[in-house]
Amino acid sequence: MSVRRLAEDQFQPAAFAFNDENAAWADKTIQKYPAGRQQSAVIPLLMRAQEQDGWVTRAAIEKVANMLDMAYIRVLEVATFYTQFQLGPVGTRAHIQVCGTTPCMLRGSEGLMSVCKSKIHHHPFERNAEGTLSWEEVECLGACVNAPMVMIGKDTYEDLTPERLAEIIDTFDAGNGASVTPGPQIDRHFSSPEGGPTSLTDEEPKKKASAKKVVADAATATVDAAPVPPSEAARAKSTDAETNAALKTPVTAPKAAAKNAKAVEEQPGVAAPVPATAKPSLTDKNRPAGIEKPATPDDLKLISGVGPKIEGTLHELGIFTFAQVAGWKKAEREWVDGYLNFKGRIDRDDWVKQAKALAKGGEAEYIKVFGKKPR
Ligand code: FES
Repeated sequence: MSVRRLAEDQFQPAAFAFNDENAAWADKTIQKYPAGRQQSAVIPLLMRAQEQDGWVTRAAIEKVANMLDMAYIRVLEVATFYTQFQLGPVGTRAHIQVCGTTPCMLRGSEGLMSVCKSKIHHHPFERNAEGTLSWEEVECLGACVNAPMVMIGKDTYEDLTPERLAEIIDTFDAGNGASVTPGPQIDRHFSSPEGGPTSLTDEEPKKKASAKKVVADAATATVDAAPVPPSEAARAKSTDAETNAALKTPVTAPKAAAKNAKAVEEQPGVAAPVPATAKPSLTDKNRPAGIEKPATPDDLKLISGVGPKIEGTLHELGIFTFAQVAGWKKAEREWVDGYLNFKGRIDRDDWVKQAKALAKGGEAEYIKVFGKKPR
């Protein structure tokens, strides 16, 4: 990777300010992060500054640092680390990023770069005489299946030839970039085969594919319901012979899955799948008793499986302490589990055992019982 430095002083504007629309967007974006974590907005804000001015100026870096209460050097580190940030002025109508990674290189990216050199400038990051165009070579942009390709702004232009890229560059330079349709530049739909589909083109294969899907779904259901260890059973059920038999009589597959599920229920110590149920009523007799919010509620997030959102819901139910959770009987656990739509997670994560340890001796007791720190 090349050394990335800020542009020379002669290019740097004296100040930077977000326009009204972007300033409102920036305020809203900063508020998305929890208190004390506003610095996480640094990348979106830098990117919005680049979209506004075309590149990231020193003044923009300082402005973003001030907005997020960060040291200038921290924001500079981010801007210079990520290559999607342009640190110098680029073409006002198009900055062309040519992918030079192996698949694109094998499919002709060097020819595309030759076009850029002849039409824009011999060196990357240098603008043409009018200042309207610039280019650079970049690493894989994730459209390798349609190599070679370039990216301009947020759009990719794929399956390029040097001639087609030259046309695209001319169109952008004329200020008509919006008229170029992004994506494949040949007779290809997204990443489908060139010239149209080459498989599943008649009814018979489609029927076979659909029958195979029924079998695959049935096999998945069977494997999902299989007792531990599932791998051997799953393998046994996917032999060619059974697949062929199932193809002939696909309706029997769900029956097999149901039979298997019943067998699972009968296995001691193996939890049966929990059917989807309606949310239990708040007036149900099994709802655990709530309490008034204490002056210092326990940090329920120390229980593995409880995050800030779930903790908020528990608070709404009047659950504030480890002792409350530790005292839940089976019916109460099932009520809370159903209310949170957890499908058995409370018992799987053993909230009661965790809460008992935390209620008894806090983190130290938790470590003693579970051999690790909570959460
Ligand atoms: S190699 Fe060019 S897009 Fe992936």
